[in-house]
Amino acid sequence: MEATAKANTNIALIKYWGKRDEQLFLPMNSSLSITLDQLSTTTTVRWNLDLEKDVFWLNGQLEGEEEANKISRFLDKVRMQMEEKWYATVESVNQVPTSAGFASSASGFAALAAAATKAAGLALNHQQLSILARQGSGSACRSIYGGFVEWRKGERLDGSDSYAIPILQPHEWDLSILSVLVESKKKKVLSREGMKRTVETSPFYSGWLEAVPIDMQLAKEAIHHRDFEKLGRVTESNAMKMHATTLGANPPFMYWQSATFDVMEQVLELRKKGIQAYFTIDAGPNVKVLCEPHDQKKVCEVLKSLPLVKDVFICHPGSGITYL
Ligand code: DP6
Repeated sequence: MEATAKANTNIALIKYWGKRDEQLFLPMNSSLSITLDQLSTTTTVRWNLDLEKDVFWLNGQLEGEEEANKISRFLDKVRMQMEEKWYATVESVNQVPTSAGFASSASGFAALAAAATKAAGLALNHQQLSILARQGSGSACRSIYGGFVEWRKGERLDGSDSYAIPILQPHEWDLSILSVLVESKKKKVLSREGMKRTVETSPFYSGWLEAVPIDMQLAKEAIHHRDFEKLGRVTESNAMKMHATTLGANPPFMYWQSATFDVMEQVLELRKKGIQAYFTIDAGPNVKVLCEPHDQKKVCEVLKSLPLVKDVFICHPGSGITYL
């Protein structure tokens, strides 16, 4: 009744932004990401007859009730499929190079879904695992697979057609994804809350929903033809559109800080000098910069030299879940 699984985080090129069902984590739009080869979570789950509640350890520390409850609610979905309704000890370790600025719910729930079901003796295929991981955190459904991954939003009310599918294996197109750490404090507006407020109040949200299918098509064409410039342009413009919706929300909010702007401006400068680099930003101030491997050293050097940049981690497309 014990299993260990490892999952990498992923970075969305076409963002998941907004839910149509908050309980089932069903998205308003499809999204597309690259699973990275770093910034992972390794989780061991031990189902135990003698436990009276679930116990959650994160990075060697026993977590309090709030965090443990999140894990318990997720494990309830696994327990529904188990004959014996046992509780579990969950031990997770986030493999983040230094500070905690990139700790991600995507790698966390993907690893938890894989370890919990394997430890329970449930033989879920990747599609079923993706559906399960989605119900811990939407973006986690994409981390089940490696490389370039699409999460099709699906149409059904029960979410049975809302899961990720792999579109390119990691070795089929090597890109450099530089994770630029500008801030390691916890986010002020969590993505969950931010997307909810945006869907409910932002007049720009309808424009977002109109734009995503067009961006998705462009991104898929770019991936198919390995057209880096085309992929970079649509990635950057999709991130800008997502962030524009937050400015129209009530109350309005933005995830960027001055250091975020510094990185964005530097990326534009690099392009003026003929180096193909593009940025994307999730629900926080850190920036991910995409470039081709032959430019990675130069781009990294330039970004590291910015005074407000704390660190830069070089990532590449990586694998999906693995069992240890
Ligand atoms: C901006 O997957 O963290 O990173 O489903 O509420 O847990 P929940 O949200 P989460 O949102 C990710 C939002 C994003 C874009 C993306 O990863 O697609």
